[in-house]
This record gives sequence, structure tokens and C-alpha cells, in this order.
Amino acid sequence: FDAALQRYRDPGSGDKMNSCAEQEAWEEHQIGKATLKFGSKKKRQMSDDHQFVFEDQIEFIKASVMDGVKVFQRLSSSALLIFHLWLDERKTLPIYPYREELLKAVKEYQVLVIVGETGSGKTTQIPQYLHEAGYAEHGKIGCTQPRRVAAMSVAARVSQEMGVKLGLEVGYSVRFEECTSAKTVVKYLTDGMLLQEFLREPNLASYSVVMVDEAHERTLSTDILFGLLKASINSFNLFKDISRSRSDLKLLISSATLDAVKFSDYFNSAPIFKIPGRRFPVDIHYTKAPEPDYLDAAVVTVLQIHVTQPLGDILVFLPGQEEIESAAEVLKHRTRGLGSKIAELVICPIYGNLPTDLQVKIFEPTPEGARKVVLATNIAETSLTIDGIKYVVDPGFSKVKSYNPRTAMDSLLVNPITKASAMQRAGRSGRTGPGKCFRLYTAHNYHADMEDNIVPEIQRTNLASVVLTLKNLGIRDLVHFDFMDPPPSEALLKALELLFALGALNSVGEPTLLGKRMAAFPLDLMLSKMVLASEKYKCSEEIITIAAMLDVGDSIFYRPKDKQVLADNAKMNFHTGNVGDHIALLKVYCSWKETNFSTQWCYENFIQVRSMKRARDIRDQLERQLERFGIELTSNADDLEAVKKAITSGFFPNSAELQKFGSYRTVKSRQTVHIHPSSGLAQVLPRWVIYHGLVLTTKEYMRQVTELSPKWLVEIAPHYYQQKDVENPGAKNLPRGQGRATRG
Ligand code: CDP
Ligand code: MG
Repeated sequence: FDAALQRYRDPGSGDKMNSCAEQEAWEEHQIGKATLKFGSKKKRQMSDDHQFVFEDQIEFIKASVMDGVKVFQRLSSSALLIFHLWLDERKTLPIYPYREELLKAVKEYQVLVIVGETGSGKTTQIPQYLHEAGYAEHGKIGCTQPRRVAAMSVAARVSQEMGVKLGLEVGYSVRFEECTSAKTVVKYLTDGMLLQEFLREPNLASYSVVMVDEAHERTLSTDILFGLLKASINSFNLFKDISRSRSDLKLLISSATLDAVKFSDYFNSAPIFKIPGRRFPVDIHYTKAPEPDYLDAAVVTVLQIHVTQPLGDILVFLPGQEEIESAAEVLKHRTRGLGSKIAELVICPIYGNLPTDLQVKIFEPTPEGARKVVLATNIAETSLTIDGIKYVVDPGFSKVKSYNPRTAMDSLLVNPITKASAMQRAGRSGRTGPGKCFRLYTAHNYHADMEDNIVPEIQRTNLASVVLTLKNLGIRDLVHFDFMDPPPSEALLKALELLFALGALNSVGEPTLLGKRMAAFPLDLMLSKMVLASEKYKCSEEIITIAAMLDVGDSIFYRPKDKQVLADNAKMNFHTGNVGDHIALLKVYCSWKETNFSTQWCYENFIQVRSMKRARDIRDQLERQLERFGIELTSNADDLEAVKKAITSGFFPNSAELQKFGSYRTVKSRQTVHIHPSSGLAQVLPRWVIYHGLVLTTKEYMRQVTELSPKWLVEIAPHYYQQKDVENPGAKNLPRGQGRATRG
């Protein structure tokens, strides 16, 4: 440490990235702080509190690194010291004692199932061990994650531990964001991205190891990867092509729960490697009676813990971004009311769409004397480990996507969690010491009402996109594809029907040129179709903007509680002429572009600048993808009909006609649906509409709605609609004044 300290005192000995005066002053400041810290700790070291001293020093380095990548670069002259400290911290993880044994097992077996509790070091350490053991010499080490945030944050962490800049040796790849280079050998990527890579490289020749992490989550992409990877390592049966066989590919399946036997059975009895975890006792408290309002109960519980329990951070599980934001707001409001009577409460939200710069905040050490409360989605259940959590608040809900193949309706509903989830959640409080878990449901609820395990996504989702991927990989017989748990045959059939209707498959079920192109787009199928159809209507410029804005989702408009009227008025400006939600999104983007992408303009118009920037990034990528296909970018801004026809080309299955009392009926599936109140057409109620998607909340709502001329349906999709579908006599029953075409 003395030598290390010397490096800190002598900044001139390192290789500076940049020598401007400001930066030097800044470094001096940091180095001063470092010396101070190390100095004071040295005294403590003499009092034999070695372990504590050591951890504290790590904290300092972490904090400076966590300030952002730049800080890390500026301190790069001290990278050696940082590296050593990481190395030592790495040795304290539960997985470390098993390093050699694990490497031996990987060497011996082609497929290995690895089980270890969350936080034991599977995700961050195993790829590093493999790298250290030379596996990266003849290929990449890939590690898949079900969630993009996890992939990004883990890659950042591992790059720090390895002392390299993120994006060089260690990188990540998530949808619309690639942070890798030719040098990248350790690559974290979402399972969906690896699936995309299969299309470009059907035998994954550039990989020497693939680790399918968080396998217990059983996402759709993970399940499909299982089938493809299994086929790749003994390829004869599936691809019927010896050259695709990868007898050299190492496959690791890692999971946090104990249902590993199922994975092992599936992979021809692959051995199971268990990493014993360390876990402290967790006190579980249930509520006496069911909570009528779980969000309020969660907030109250957090405040109760804060005022009555010893220091230690709190982790609250909430279903989604919306609930997290509103809980954060209420917590801020209530703690402000209490002023200095209570200790500081640092509120940290974490959810899938959280911008990268805010993600690092959850890992920052809690200031002395304060308490951190992390408001998280399921992401904190197993994919991210936050140190220092002592209390868990579990309302018992999560958002689950489900799909009804009969009605072709996707829904994202808040559902009760499973027993397996409840146990995982509770366990998060007992990682570094004894913990407490407050379940906001009754013990009876837990035992009697909760399912044991989650239904794999493949059995409750729309399969169209995955079916297209498999078809593009040359897999003809989907019924006999080796699924770990097969999807319902009705869902497969529906997927094939939709692909056929969209023109992605031909009559014998093979992908068409359109289908090949659609699969290459990292977009939802119908969006891809819409984008590709824009070529015909000469409005690709407009359509890729709309596609990018739709892909960003609900987070474009900002509606603060205290300024709702102002926000709604600002939003209505984009809807002048009842143009519909798609065109309104286009107008938002174009106006922003006209101001030269001004942040100020976003504030003034209650638009979230971050979402807009994301839309711009996505748009750029779509532009490049079209260029790759040789599709010319053309603008047709004055012809809104052309734009709407291109939208219809992708979304014609989503058409609906107005009924009595302002409800709608979907034309093909005969479902009763409603225009979502957030739509610009919610009061207008045009007779025919096309919608982006359905959500089931209090009612079945159509989101992002645009008026449609019914003859377009027959014109654009004659194989799908017949004249009688759009000559519905239902119009006679319409209330007066409704159902007239609006002019825009
Ligand atoms: O994958 P597994 O749950 O077994 O553990 P891991 O994600 O490799 O985490 C190992 C350690 O790294 C934990 O103590 C985490 O708190 C820490 N970590 C972190 O501090 N920041 C990250 N972005 C990721 C992990
Ligand atoms: Mg992990």
C-alpha cells in the first residue's frame, strides 16, 4: 500500500490522458482526498482492524469510479492500484474458492449447468476466469442476460475490474446500443441480441464460450437459445449440416435457483456445478390483513423502517416504472415534510428504461448516516445485486406479459408473484448480514394463492417474431423443434398465420425476401413491415421517425402532477386537426428537429428530452439499416395519406370499428376495445381506426390510434380482408354525430 500510495502522491508518474490545467487541478483534488483517506485509514490499520480498513479503501476507489467513466480515465495512471484492489475484492466472493474446480469442469465437459445464489459472482467472475484461462484466445466469451440494464451495468463493472475501458476488451450489446470493438473478447449481451447474432452467424463461430445466464428466468429468447445451442453442439439432427457443428463450443447454463435438474436433463444430463452461497437469516413479516393499496402500504412501510429500524438500506419491489416514479414522488414529499427530524433518505429508482447515467447511482455507497431506498422492478430480484441491503419490502406483484393466442392480444398486467420470486426477494436482504423482509400480503396468501414457479414466457407470449427467426435459420419443422417446454400449438399456428398475412412467409412456409429483411430489423414485426412498406409509399423518412417514436414507447410526453393542464395543452398542439397519434408523434419529432434538437424546446413543450434522444438514435439506426438494404430514403411529408397507408401496411391486422356508446370492435377478432384516454383521438372517435397495440388495464385499450379509411384495408391486405368485413352495418346504430370522418 505504501508503494500504491506513492503513485497517488506522484501523479506525474502516470500516463496522463489529457494535460489541461483544469484537469490537473481536478486530479490534484482527487489525489489529495485519496491521500487523506489512506492516511487516516493507515492509523486504523495499526489498530488491527485490517478487514475494515481494506473494505473502506475499496469504497473510495469505487466511489471515484462510479462518478462516471471519465473519472476512471482521469485516474488511469493509478489503474494498477485500482486493479489490485479489485482483484482482492474479487477474492472475497463466494465463487472464488471454486475457481480452479470450475475451470477444470469447463475443460472437461462441453455443457455445464452452474447454480449459485445471486451475488455469488457468477455473472461478473466466470467470464473473467475463462478469459484468464485463455478461452478468449480463439473466440469471444459471450454472456447473455435477459435484461438490457443488467447487461450494460455488469459489463461496466467487469471492465473496471479488469482495468480496461468499457467497449474495448469488455463490451456489451443490447438492442439499439452496441458498445464493442474489434478487441472485444468478453461480451455481455441480451439473450435477444444473441438470437439476432445467430441469424448472421448460424454456428456462432466467433464465440468460444457462450454462457446463458439467469436461465431460471426462462425468457422467450433464452428458451429459443437453448434449442439452437443444443442443436449447434450436436447439429446433425436439426440443421442436417455437419459444418455447423460446434464440438469446440463451451456452453454454460447458469441459474440462481435450484431447478437446475431440468436444465441438466434437457442438455443430455450435463453435470451440475453448485456454488455454495453464504446467506444470513432473514426475518419474514407478513401483514395481518390484505393491503387495499399496495403502493401506499409500501411507502408507509419504508418510512416506518426508516424511523424505527437501525441503519441499513431498503429495497422495494414494484411492478414498473410508473409505480416506481409515483412511489419516489410520494416518498420525497413525505420525507420533506419531516425535515431534519429524520436521517436523510436517498431515493434510487431502477427499472429497464432508466437512462444509463442514473443507473450507476444505485451502486454508489450510501452517505454516512443516511439510508438508501432502492425502488426496483424485478430486475433486482436476481440480475442485479446491490450491496448493503438490509430490508426488503415486497408488495407481492410484478408485471407479467401475457398473450392470448385466441384474441391475438398481448397484455402487460400486474400479477401476483410466485413463491420462487417471493423467496428470491426475501433473500436479497440477507446477503451481507441478517435481514428483514416485509411482505405486504398475508401468510395465507403466500401459502394458498401463490403459484410455485412462473410459466415460461414461451407459453404465454406472441411467437411471431421468434418463429420468423427460426424460419430464417432454416428450421422448417417447428412442431418438432426441441423446446424445453413447448409453446401451445395454437400460438404457433397464430404466429404462422400472422407471418403469412404480413407477407413474411410464402405459401409453403418459407421466408420471403420481405421476411428475411423483417427478421434483420431489431424491431417488432409489424413495425418492421411498416418501415419496409414505406418504400412503396415514398415516405420512408416519415415512417422511420414514427417507428422510432413508437419504439421508445410511452415516455415521450411528460405530465407532472402539478402541471397536468399545461402539459395536456402542450400535447394537444401536436394533435391539431385530429391527425391521430402516429402523425402527432411525427410532428413532435419534426418540431424538435427544427429547433436543432433543443433541450429547452423539450422543457417548454413537456417532452422528455431523453426519450427524444433515444428516438433519434433509433432513427439513425433504422436509416442505416435501410441503406444496407439499398432502400432509398424519401420524404413525402405533405401526403399524410401515403404515410397512413404505410402504417396500415404494417398494422392492418389491428383495425377496429366504432360501436355504440363510443366503444370499438376489432374487425377480425371481434373484440370490444376502447381508445386509450391518453390518445389525441379519445374524444374524436372516428369510425374506423388502426391501432399500434392493445393494453389491458382497467379496460381493453387501444394505444396510439390513427383514423383509417376502410377501403385501404381491402386495398392493402386483400388476402386478409374482404369487402364484407368493412361494410359492417353496425354503423347504423351509431349515436348521432359520431363516426363521421374527421378532416386533418
Ligand atoms: O451473478 P451473481 O448474482 O452470482 O453475482 P454477480 O452479479 O457477479 O455479483 C458479484 C458481486 O459484484 C456482488 O457483490 C455485486 O454487488 C457486485 N456488483 C456490483 O457491485 N456492481 C455491478 N454492476 C455488478 C455486480
Ligand atoms: Mg448474475
